[in-house]
Amino acid sequence: MPDLPGRASGSGSPEASEPPGGAEPRARDLFAFTRALPLDRAGELLAAIQQLSLARSLPEIQSVVRHAARHLTGADGATFVLRDGDDCLYADEDAIAPLWKGQRFSAQTCISGWVIHNRRPAVIADVYEDARIRHDVYRPTFVHGLAVVPIRQSDPVGAIGNYWASRHIASDQELQTLQALADSTAVALETVHTYQQLEDSRLDTLNRLALAAEFRDDGTHEHTRRVARTAFLLARELGMTPAEASLIRQAAPLHDLGKLALPDAILLKRARLTVPEYERVKQHPAAGAAVLSGSASQVMRMAEQIALTHHEWWDGSGYPAGLAGQEIPLGGRLVALADVFDALTHTRPYKRAWPVERALGELRRLAGTQFDPAVVEAFFELDPSALVELPRARARSARQRAQPRA
Ligand SMILES: [Fe+2]
Ligand SMILES: [Fe+2]
Repeated sequence: MPDLPGRASGSGSPEASEPPGGAEPRARDLFAFTRALPLDRAGELLAAIQQLSLARSLPEIQSVVRHAARHLTGADGATFVLRDGDDCLYADEDAIAPLWKGQRFSAQTCISGWVIHNRRPAVIADVYEDARIRHDVYRPTFVHGLAVVPIRQSDPVGAIGNYWASRHIASDQELQTLQALADSTAVALETVHTYQQLEDSRLDTLNRLALAAEFRDDGTHEHTRRVARTAFLLARELGMTPAEASLIRQAAPLHDLGKLALPDAILLKRARLTVPEYERVKQHPAAGAAVLSGSASQVMRMAEQIALTHHEWWDGSGYPAGLAGQEIPLGGRLVALADVFDALTHTRPYKRAWPVERALGELRRLAGTQFDPAVVEAFFELDPSALVELPRARARSARQRAQPRA
């Protein structure tokens, strides 16, 4: 792609004509600038800025930028490039023909890398009129003219590019429009990053609370990790994508967060629960879901769904809502089986651990009543006996077995 030999030698700007309006970043009066734009363009720019301010994830930002970057200037193509260490990742694009989406180029050699390094725009009227540009890299594309601006001028995190199929010198207005979009993109990326950090720390806190809840009736506190791993493997076995499955893996440990609301007298009771006590236990899915509710994060939303539905039964006789069949979200169905298998094969205050074969017989018996038959089927496709312990715990118990007794 935009390969620039000579850039690494520090011989100055190899490709850029000085951007209209000066090279140094300057404060921009967005209001005054948009007033100078044609009405429809000003409206489009303000709409894009508004969408960026509402974006809560990188894909949302990408989708706004790739569309707006091309349409605001009427270019034939636009790219959204992110700095990734020493590379430039061409993360997204919208163009009349494919450019470089998904490809990485050394920041030392590509135009986006030059823009990021120099913290200023680059404008090339026609790449084939510039001897410093490697023409063979552009030949597979439609590109002749281009303009690239940095995202966050003080310390660029990426670049936005515009491309034209014929000779084109980007005008002052086109470049300022693109830079206004890039400046808003920088703010949106910052917001998403901060938001992500907040979500991560909230998730971490809730995971610790879930661990605290679990610790009360499982001294090894490995139950939630085992359930998460089994649910993840089930998700993969059932054809979910790696991203969907890992969402389930992250969310599953929070399934019993609502146990925090149960008193020890009920949670640790060895004898059979009374009817009022069991009614109290049946409130823990809703209690957990309430704590997890109201988040925009995908993981938290999945965790809320799983917490609420992991005691629903396939035949509709579960709790709290009595959902049946496909009404029960898949995450809830997966964790339901993983949770019961783990509870059966481990010691709890009220029972001893069952042998694996007995637990497997129980799961088979409950296929179609408590569990989704397809999930039970998928479970038997895995190696269930390997799911009783986490890999490290298995190795530890094997080592203990191998040690001679004193
Ligand atoms: Fe539960
Ligand atoms: Fe559980």
